[in-house]
Amino acid sequence: MDKFIVEGPVRLQGTVTVSGAKNASLALMPACLLAPGIYHLGNTPNNRDVWTFSRLLGSLGVHAELNSNTLFLDSSTITSYEAPYDHVKKMRASIYVLGPLVARYGQARVSLPGGCNFGPRPVDLHLKGLERLGAKIEVEGGYIVATADRLQGNHVHFDVSSVGATVNVLMAAVLAKGQSVFTNAALEPEVTALARMLVKMGARIEGIGTTTLEIEGVDTLKPVNEETIPDRIEAATYLIAAAMTRGDVTLKNVNPYHLAAVVQKLEESGAELDVTGETIRITMNDAPNAVDITTAPYPGYPTDAQAQWAAYMMLANGASTIKDTIYPTRFGYVPELHRLGAEIEVTDGACVVKGGRRLTGATVMSSDLRASASLVMAAMVSEGRSEILRVYHIDRGYEAIERRLTALGAVIRREHTEEY
Ligand code: UD1
Repeated sequence: MDKFIVEGPVRLQGTVTVSGAKNASLALMPACLLAPGIYHLGNTPNNRDVWTFSRLLGSLGVHAELNSNTLFLDSSTITSYEAPYDHVKKMRASIYVLGPLVARYGQARVSLPGGCNFGPRPVDLHLKGLERLGAKIEVEGGYIVATADRLQGNHVHFDVSSVGATVNVLMAAVLAKGQSVFTNAALEPEVTALARMLVKMGARIEGIGTTTLEIEGVDTLKPVNEETIPDRIEAATYLIAAAMTRGDVTLKNVNPYHLAAVVQKLEESGAELDVTGETIRITMNDAPNAVDITTAPYPGYPTDAQAQWAAYMMLANGASTIKDTIYPTRFGYVPELHRLGAEIEVTDGACVVKGGRRLTGATVMSSDLRASASLVMAAMVSEGRSEILRVYHIDRGYEAIERRLTALGAVIRREHTEEY
């Protein structure tokens, strides 16, 4: 297992190129199950979740190979319809094979994901949506077993806006017979990216980028090449890190529209942002103003950049409230930030960060992907040496984060450790 040794405080300065979006890649990759053949997915991030998903696809018979951020997939021969517990427990998005397998092959067996580090994350909406399209769903020995002849188009209303359920059921509906209408569909850029790829493959989808999708099922689809959109959460992480260190950083390969909520909050905090095309430059000279955030489905402030904001607000002159309406218990990182000297109180579905405390390096433990990003950021502004354990979490979603931050002036070293 690896850990990071971080020395602080530092000031970030320079240019960083943002990777392709992990969560978009995880939605695009299973689409290859819908049409046998060869796909090239450009701008694919080289991170642990992409490797895990590649291995899962490999276990189904897909040949997957990542070369210089282009992912080659050959789905010509599918040999299995099962996503075993071993894969699903590592990554919940493994459930994305359910929709395409049952739509294309009439059968799928996928382990139930179980809980996760920031609370219960059910999959009921995935299952209900597939049932609405005529799939027969049973749970057997911890596995979801889905079967169908040809799926049938239907009205699917999502009780809660869910990225995962929209992705999964959309991949099924494109091959169903007749029309489906989705209401309260998630409109996160990663969902839109998948819908665009499906259209390129021959799917008929209207309303892309809105909460109502009209899908006219087709009999067959064809393989395509696609470019993955930039990672808005990685970009948000680097922007907030730059502001925290009173730095001057230029981000390349970003879609500023996808970052509007984060950019606005950064401006309220006192940072200066200059947006030109696919580039954003951020500069910050002072301690930030205390700014509250409330997470919400896109285009609201993303839950995946919530922990990073809490770390930033440790430096503010005043108190700020961070409310997570999507995952109200996603505050597992707070006790770790306390170890660095932070004063943060967790209340019901929110935390209140009292800024301006002296922060000093300490050993802290990552509990999930974004929480670990917030710990790295907090360590970069704390005095002295910090150790961040269990960085495998951060490797799931950030390609070479320590190299990128080091290139901007951070002092971070990766070390192998037996500590758990
Ligand atoms: C995706 C992202 C994750 C992000 C989250 C919210 C991927 C691989 N992961 O996760 O990084 O934090 O969106 O933006 O893209 N819900 C149900 N029943 C369901 C499904 C979801 O009640 O069947 C609830 C969840 O508990 C949560 C809300 O819906 O409160 C939104 O979750 P969802 O959008 O589904 O998150 P994921 O797709 O798992």
